[in-house]
Amino acid sequence: MMNAIVVYSSQTGRIEQIAHAIAAGLPQGTPCVSVDDMPDDFSSYDCVFAGFWIDENQADPKGQEALKKIGNDHVAVFATLYDDPYSDQASKHLRSAVELLEPDSGVIGTYVAWTDKDKYMHRPEAGEDLHLDRAKAFAQDTLSRLKGQ
Ligand SMILES: Cc1cc2nc3c(=O)[nH]c(=O)nc-3n(C[C@H](O)[C@H](O)[C@H](O)COP(=O)(O)O)c2cc1C
Repeated sequence: MMNAIVVYSSQTGRIEQIAHAIAAGLPQGTPCVSVDDMPDDFSSYDCVFAGFWIDENQADPKGQEALKKIGNDHVAVFATLYDDPYSDQASKHLRSAVELLEPDSGVIGTYVAWTDKDKYMHRPEAGEDLHLDRAKAFAQDTLSRLKGQ
């Protein structure tokens, strides 16, 4: 069975909810933890899902610190941002985050969730659609591609 872990840095809670939706698409018992509680060593995992929010055009500070400590051949990166997720800006933000990973890490997938700029400083309201079904599908797709490698 695939041995995965989900770690996240979240301020207002969106990426936390998305992280749990990702874990729901992975084998039962897959750990889903804040970067405050993440393990020191990621080498025993087949796949690491690393989540953060975009702050000042890059990963948020706690997310950056975590990314620097993650080393794995199969890292799946997920983030929230208020910029257009299809924009050149968004790809640059993700790229700068990915480059923080430990040397020789490999990226198996990326997932971006858009946050309405009118809501971004607040915790998500009840009923705010975070498209958790898409996050779960991203996890399932990533795992099935990994199994096919
Ligand atoms: C202080 C702050 C700065 C932000 N800066 C950016 C930014 O530069 N670009 C962007 O696309 N989104 C930016 N965002 C939007 C966040 O990525 C978005 O609100 C995200 O949903 C927060 O994730 P969280 O709910 O998990 O904390 C910023 C949010 C905050 C709170």
